[in-house]
Amino acid sequence: MWVNTMPKFIINGGRQLCGELMVQGAKNSVLPLLAATILCSGTSVLHNCPKLSDVAASMNILKHLGCLCQFDAGSITVDTNNFKCSRIPDKLMLKMRSSVIFLGAILGRCGFATISSPGGCELGPRPIDLHISSLKRLGVMTNEKHGFIEFYAPNGLMGNEINLSFASVGATENIILAAVTAKGRTIIYNAAKEPEICDLCNFLNTCGAHIRGSGTDTIIIDGVDSLIGCEHNVIPDRIVVATFMAAAAITGGEIVLNNINSSHITAICSVFEESGCDISIFDNKLCLKSPPKLSRVSTIRTSIYPGFPTDAGPILLSMLALSNGSSIIVENIFENRFRYVDELKRLGANINVEGRVAIIEGVDKLSAAYCRCTDLRGGAALVVAGLAAKGTTIVDDIYHIKRGYEKIDYNLSLLGADIKEV
Ligand code: UD1
Repeated sequence: MWVNTMPKFIINGGRQLCGELMVQGAKNSVLPLLAATILCSGTSVLHNCPKLSDVAASMNILKHLGCLCQFDAGSITVDTNNFKCSRIPDKLMLKMRSSVIFLGAILGRCGFATISSPGGCELGPRPIDLHISSLKRLGVMTNEKHGFIEFYAPNGLMGNEINLSFASVGATENIILAAVTAKGRTIIYNAAKEPEICDLCNFLNTCGAHIRGSGTDTIIIDGVDSLIGCEHNVIPDRIVVATFMAAAAITGGEIVLNNINSSHITAICSVFEESGCDISIFDNKLCLKSPPKLSRVSTIRTSIYPGFPTDAGPILLSMLALSNGSSIIVENIFENRFRYVDELKRLGANINVEGRVAIIEGVDKLSAAYCRCTDLRGGAALVVAGLAAKGTTIVDDIYHIKRGYEKIDYNLSLLGADIKEV
């Protein structure tokens, strides 16, 4: 007999979520920051790190490269004194889709790197053509064979002007990591402006880098000879903020979130406000009070920062499934972002997807069901819906959720949810 032993969440939905939580550090910051420590001599300490499977995978890559790496009470210490250049085994790289972010840093430190050719992922094809063409502008040559791509810089990395045809977050990070100790000046035009880019640049500058313009679409990097490790606080995770806000809003609750950065969540807060939530922000604290019934909202179009983030789309879609009218989400970043919608429909959501457009007809109630996570944020969307659905919802394949949320079940329980992992 086949027994499914994958961890799952059992949610007894229908409880109002009320209370106060601390928001974890941003997954999408901590991963490039861990890669960046490779470029630094001595010890780097990253505070406010979330304990996630992707973080563990990054630490294993660092350990393979000879770094001493320790996670203690939310802080990761990386000591690169015994760093040795070596090829990272595939089984370590493939544990995490974002492992491509190590490319720029390893090239910067070793002058060569090998990665396996990226295939598709749960959000559709995830090409790295922009990473490759940009690195080539910095003097990198490539060689593709047997499913691997070898990168090497025969004459060292050299600064250059790079014009990105799309403001890719990962490509911008890889260029910064490769350029920071390259010879001369690199200018990135049409760079990504996401807060996680600024976090990376702030860390590198504290370590001795010369980077200007992060947070704008032109980033100027003057290469330096060396970097020295420093201490750094990882920024709060804006998508986790959106998730807890949605969990409270869909259950008619009221929450306070600590450790937020209000300037990172402007686009997200506008949608919650339009749906009838009352939001007040004091310094790094956000209070959300939900209305008796959520309202429909005008069309949400995901876009690059400071627009509405694609990663918050599934979570807001889930919340709007229980609103009083029809709303539309247009996904402009990833081709195949709506796979979780079929799972959400099992809970009674009324959603039609056509290509990159999802039309959500709000329903009066959701009902409990068995569903499976298809990806990280789609999984979080199922949890949000399960919290509002009367009865017992089973959310399966939650390893996706663990890539991005630290103890989500525990945190939701603190707010009064009945959720446990089995
Ligand atoms: C990062 C985030 C992810 C977020 C995304 C968009 C991390 C670890 N992940 O992913 O959570 O959803 O930004 O905000 O930070 N593209 C190409 N060629 C390339 C690179 C990208 O065509 O060389 C395309 C992608 O397929 C996608 C779009 O550009 O359609 C956005 O990708 P990008 O901004 O690079 O996202 P990631 O860095 O992968």
